[in-house]
Amino acid sequence: MFAKAIKGGYAIPAYNFNNLEQLQAIIQAAVETKSPVILQVSKGARAYANQTLLRFMAEGAVEYAKELGCAKPEIVLHLDHGDSFETCKSCIDMGFSSVMIDGSHLPYDENVALTKKVVEYAHQFDVTVEGELGVLAGVEDEVSADHHTYTKPEEVVDFVTKTGCDSLAISIGTSHGANKFTPDQCTRDANGRLVPPPLAFDVLDGVMKELPGFPIVLHGSSSVPEEEVETINKYGGALKDAIGIPEEELRKAAASAVCKINIDSDSRLAMTAAIRKVFAEKPAEFDPRKYLGPARDNMKKLYIHKIVNVLGSAGKL
Ligand code: G3H
Ligand code: 13P
Ligand code: ZN
Repeated sequence: MFAKAIKGGYAIPAYNFNNLEQLQAIIQAAVETKSPVILQVSKGARAYANQTLLRFMAEGAVEYAKELGCAKPEIVLHLDHGDSFETCKSCIDMGFSSVMIDGSHLPYDENVALTKKVVEYAHQFDVTVEGELGVLAGVEDEVSADHHTYTKPEEVVDFVTKTGCDSLAISIGTSHGANKFTPDQCTRDANGRLVPPPLAFDVLDGVMKELPGFPIVLHGSSSVPEEEVETINKYGGALKDAIGIPEEELRKAAASAVCKINIDSDSRLAMTAAIRKVFAEKPAEFDPRKYLGPARDNMKKLYIHKIVNVLGSAGKL
């Protein structure tokens, strides 16, 4: 899938899921756009929804895609931000297609050793492994960093050679969550809209020069759509200074060796906006299907928009 994406100049959407409605929306979007898709579950998702349940939901999703008319769906189940060998092993043993081992917060040699250990185990079962070099600012599970540490292009060949990982997540200025930049880091365009500082494409270029054709992954790639934030705040929410990655930058990344782009926060925003709207407009409603249904539709719209207009993976099945 990665080789095809790099050659075709697009990125595969890696959407996080924690519940039925997110999964339905992702699969409907992938089928309707004829896109491959990576379903990913975080440590938080495993704790919230149960790893076994999520694994079989993903298997059910393949059948669901076929039922929706897709003869040969390309659906991957991936562990997002695996934090230990044991977590990765547990997912590999359970039948995940790929795992991420996130040793990015560790000293370099420890990151190499941990990633190598996971790769050696995973490859026995044809499971692929994503490693990470460089640190994203913000909070990732229990670890937080107050600034980005960009990936050092001079380290990537050594890391990939020593660990044998199949793809590499890098740090070029993206971060997790809905507050990726503070207003004082941004400038304003002619319409007064905040424009965040550009991603470090020089770092991406440096990495691609060192590792030609190697699959690169971008985390923290939500765009934080203004209309979702506005809807949330209009109906009682209190999101402040929510700023994401501009879509043009993601388009540019997707056309390069970046072949997996991680998006979670945008789906959370779309879900919350739709639910808040129903709660505000129909306060007597108490059937969860009446607010989770609109939430699912809103997420589906967002997933389709990303696939068609940003990542370029539509029609690539
Ligand atoms: O990378 C982080 C993802 O957005 C997952 O977030 O750990 O809250 O499930 P979570
Ligand atoms: P966002 O918070 O930008 O959606 O990033 C998600 C992510 O990187 C999951 O691993
Ligand atoms: Zn991430």
